[in-house]
Amino acid sequence: MGTIKCIGILTSGGDAPGMNAAIRAVTRSAIYNGLQVKGIYRGYKGLLTGEIKEFKSQNVSNIIQLGGTILKTARCKEFTTPEGRQIAYDNMKKEGIDALVIIGGDGSLTGARIFAQEFDVPCIGLPGTIDNDLFGTDTTIGYDTALNTILDAVDKIRDTATSHERLFFVEVMGRDAGFLALNGAIAAGAEAAIIPEISTEVDQLEELIKNGFRKSKNSSIVLVAESPITGGAMHYAERVKNEYPGYDVRVTILGHLQRGGSPTAHDRILASRLGAAAIDAIMEGQRNVMIGIDHDEIVYVPFTKAIKNDKPIKKELINVLRELSI
Ligand code: F6P
Repeated sequence: MGTIKCIGILTSGGDAPGMNAAIRAVTRSAIYNGLQVKGIYRGYKGLLTGEIKEFKSQNVSNIIQLGGTILKTARCKEFTTPEGRQIAYDNMKKEGIDALVIIGGDGSLTGARIFAQEFDVPCIGLPGTIDNDLFGTDTTIGYDTALNTILDAVDKIRDTATSHERLFFVEVMGRDAGFLALNGAIAAGAEAAIIPEISTEVDQLEELIKNGFRKSKNSSIVLVAESPITGGAMHYAERVKNEYPGYDVRVTILGHLQRGGSPTAHDRILASRLGAAAIDAIMEGQRNVMIGIDHDEIVYVPFTKAIKNDKPIKKELINVLRELSI
């Protein structure tokens, strides 16, 4: 692959607030550095169908504040097959695209890793997911906004939980990671978080009851990370109904509202920095890395590390929540 003159940009997988800020940053930074930019629509699917359009600076005006992604997004089955990726590569060549910037989560960066390996295409990833589950970066684009959305919801649930003296299980997203549940619980002043990272070690409901989480309170809020490992909020509500019938239990599943909304200042700044760094990385000849942030410094994380290693949950956070919920 010779000099890079034109980059393609796409968003893939679940959308996340701040993806638009990232699209804007990548586009403007590329143009600033003399590169041509092409927007690829509907994730990898757009590479297969040829839904590709040249982006000028004005194409990304007035989007930094918008949730979702102007490029649309998809989870593309065809791209998981060698035949599909061959079509994607052929279309890329036809469009004159020399390198790709992929904004997405675990699945999207896995696709990029395989594609880059098969066709010797420079691919740069940006961590775009509310789940914060990519290794090698302190945080991901969309995570902070989703946390704030959770806070807003839990603050409201607390009003009714207190009035009725109820126990609420609030289910939050995160796929197989408990970052939203744990940090959401700390920030919302919830009594506990049930997270997949420790679900196999202890029965978290037993722990809660045993620790007398309700001794000094008449209402309680427990955040539950969605995941087959935890079993979700409904599972715990059913268990409480059967095993501890004294509690008046309710469930709220926050669902996709966690993925929407205008990005916070934190996510806009993060997306802007990572987007500009993606172009720096391309200009430096980097390839097949995710751009991350570590102790406020930009870092390059090889795809294999970002997607393979399970990002650990800090034990300290678990202890903070436990101590402060007495
Ligand atoms: O990865 C982001 C995420 O929102 C996860 O938290 C959730 O499990 C999943 O996507 C939901 O995906 P979909 O929008 O396809 O239902």
